[in-house]
Amino acid sequence: LERSGAEIVYPSRFHALGDENSAAFVLEAGLKTEEALAILKREKPVDAIFTTLICKINKEILDTAGPQLKVVSTVSVGYDHISLDECWTRGILVGHTPGVLSDSTADMAITLCLAAGRRIPEARQAVLDGSWGDWRPLWMCGMDLHHATVGIVGLGRIGQIVAKRLKAFDCNLIYSDVIRNEAAEKEFGLHYVDFDDLLQRADFVLPHIPLLPETRKLFNLKTFKKMKKSAIFVNTSRGPVCDMDDLYTALKTGEIAAAGLDVTDPEPLPPSHPLLTLPNCLIVPHVASASIRTRLDMFDLAVRNTIAAINGKPLPSEVKPPSAKSKL
Ligand code: GLV
Ligand code: GLV
Repeated sequence: LERSGAEIVYPSRFHALGDENSAAFVLEAGLKTEEALAILKREKPVDAIFTTLICKINKEILDTAGPQLKVVSTVSVGYDHISLDECWTRGILVGHTPGVLSDSTADMAITLCLAAGRRIPEARQAVLDGSWGDWRPLWMCGMDLHHATVGIVGLGRIGQIVAKRLKAFDCNLIYSDVIRNEAAEKEFGLHYVDFDDLLQRADFVLPHIPLLPETRKLFNLKTFKKMKKSAIFVNTSRGPVCDMDDLYTALKTGEIAAAGLDVTDPEPLPPSHPLLTLPNCLIVPHVASASIRTRLDMFDLAVRNTIAAINGKPLPSEVKPPSAKSKL
């Protein structure tokens, strides 16, 4: 970026990860909206905003950045924190980081399936608190992932890698999506079903969908009631696709057996949240893409998106306006 002549404002604690020559820097503490706004007020005008998902890129941020803003580059695949229309009407490009994090995110989805299914948090707690007694045949029995029916909601980049992994677990793979993908069906042995059918049949339900108005609270008490009582809900997508209060009720009353969550609504979940009292709810703090390799790749792509925009070149990974998409 410096080589491209851009003046860089380092507003927060950066530290290099990996060797000195690595082009990627990891933003240790991402800026939240208010902090970003304060810095933009001081430093405007800027050419690029390099950001993460905890900063809402709204009208006020864009107005403050000034008229020479060319790009908003986020170190995330998700872009629900960016007001796309506000960017596009100003001619500002939006870059994100799809693809490079799909494998790590799929790994985390499988991890949560196994850990929630086999009750790893409860089992570990029993070891720590001394309630591990004699070996008992029916103690800590959970649900197998192998040979289970797994329902993938949204067969995008991540959903397809989850399917690829689970083929090796001999799972019965079903999926629902707005569009059918027959090539992926053949490759991974997937069966296309409608959403309600998936909810009724799946032992594990895994959303791999973006947060959109139509996916917000897609998982609620009504949908949990359609699932098996033994079902396990694993969410690595976005917290608000699930109603947290309804999930609590479903887990508490036995509508479903367990949940594994990488994402919640809000984030972080306050320590007093009732979900944290449930032994059958495993929550990790939005770390699905948090491997060293993947984070470096995400930063690399986000930096390349930024440089391309500053140089007037096509972005390696642009979030395109719908009209541009249909022209492809
Ligand atoms: C993480 O949640 C991402 O969108 O990259
Ligand atoms: C378990 O450890 C077994 O031997 O069945």
